[in-house]
Amino acid sequence: MEKHLENPVFKLIADCADRLGVDAYVIGGFVRDIFLKRGSKDIDVVTIGKGIELAELVHKKLGKEANLSVFRNFGTAQVKFKDLEVEFVGARKESYDRGSRKPIVENGTLEDDQNRRDFTINALAIGLNNANFGKLLDPFGGLQDLENKIIRTPLSPDITYSDDPLRMMRAIRFATQLGFTIEERSLQAITDNKERIKIVSKERITEELNKIICAPVPSVGFKLLFDTGLLHLIFPEMVKLQGVETVKGKSHKDNFYHTLEVLDNTARNTKDLWLRWAAILHDIAKPATKRFEPDHGWTFHGHEDKGARMVPKIFADLKLPLNEKMKYVQKLVLLHLRPIVLAKTEITDSAVRRVMYEAGEDLDDLMTLCEADITTKNPNKVKRYLHNFEIVRQKMKELEEKDKIRNWQPPVSGEEIMEIFNLEPSKKVGDLKNALKDAILDGIIPNEREAGIGFLKEAFEKMK
Ligand code: CTP
Repeated sequence: MEKHLENPVFKLIADCADRLGVDAYVIGGFVRDIFLKRGSKDIDVVTIGKGIELAELVHKKLGKEANLSVFRNFGTAQVKFKDLEVEFVGARKESYDRGSRKPIVENGTLEDDQNRRDFTINALAIGLNNANFGKLLDPFGGLQDLENKIIRTPLSPDITYSDDPLRMMRAIRFATQLGFTIEERSLQAITDNKERIKIVSKERITEELNKIICAPVPSVGFKLLFDTGLLHLIFPEMVKLQGVETVKGKSHKDNFYHTLEVLDNTARNTKDLWLRWAAILHDIAKPATKRFEPDHGWTFHGHEDKGARMVPKIFADLKLPLNEKMKYVQKLVLLHLRPIVLAKTEITDSAVRRVMYEAGEDLDDLMTLCEADITTKNPNKVKRYLHNFEIVRQKMKELEEKDKIRNWQPPVSGEEIMEIFNLEPSKKVGDLKNALKDAILDGIIPNEREAGIGFLKEAFEKMK
């Protein structure tokens, strides 16, 4: 174990702790990550009393390069040194106020502190005093749980989750990130205590949700959230996707599980959180636009448009950023059917150019999303779609080389139009700009200045 404490900072903490007569242990995520072979730069040190004094002494010994922040109200201190962040906290025997996540803090022993942690795998501690340097203290079989890939709480799960309901999200997040199973008792306790998630801030919930989304197979987490009922409380729009309706023997697909498949497919091709969010939201308006038409069966007309319009409220509710990330997700939701339509029908240059123009710099992401959206189980259909997609991509490449549509700027600008035709800013200028754009995208004229001016002159005459 000592070899994992090779960083000289640990020896320094040991010497300082001995000098102050304080017991110190490295605990939590750092220890867990040693066994998971994931390096961590965040080190939590728990002390029996005098946490702040220990931090101050360590800071002094590390010299000028180190930075110290003390949070007296919380009884914690942080030392930053090079790329390391060491957090010093006095061991606590903690009882929570039921109405909030605020703990009532009382000093405690190491065992008390380990008892109040979320999971056995996060309650592992390693001795930092010279007498027990590198000794693992594992009172709840956390090591065994790491080996068996189990998420289990040190105390009865009802107590652990009710104390801090965010831990229900954390359980599902760790299970998803690490590919672990949540112990049956614990899963039941999440279902039983789900309503307590309401005392947790939306920001904290979404932080965990985003970590689930960034996991290698995010559907695992969403299924757990759904099965425990947490998803109904934190993200009800997504739950509405679930279910199959049958009319006159015709059923539509279950859009919840379809969305999860699309999300997993997307996750295979990108680590980007926002492209994954686009996958989650691409069909979000299907429940709201669902119709049964006797001649056609189930239809979801306009779900891409309505879906894009639903994005801001969903982002606001989840406290996701209302900035260009949101606009990006909206754009992909709005355009998500376009390449599929291309792949299904006769492909015209004009239709391809339009998608390229509208997607702009996000074209590759749109194509990734659309390919992920092919979830039919019919192998012939999959083959045909993927083949057509190849043709679409090829066509895009050709047109890009020829016409430079991506990040396209019109060859004659609005200002120039006003100058040439002696116009004030007006609807007419907008109409001329649009006519020019359409003519180029439809291949009526080449993407060149001279042809553009010629076309505009004709269009201007016609408008008179
Ligand atoms: N912890 C807890 N209950 C919480 C949050 C944290 O008991 N709601 C404890 C766990 O022992 C955890 C430690 O505090 O290991 C540090 O928490 P944090 O830094 O949030 O998470 P890590 O476990 O380090 O994991 P990650 O870095 O992946 O978030």
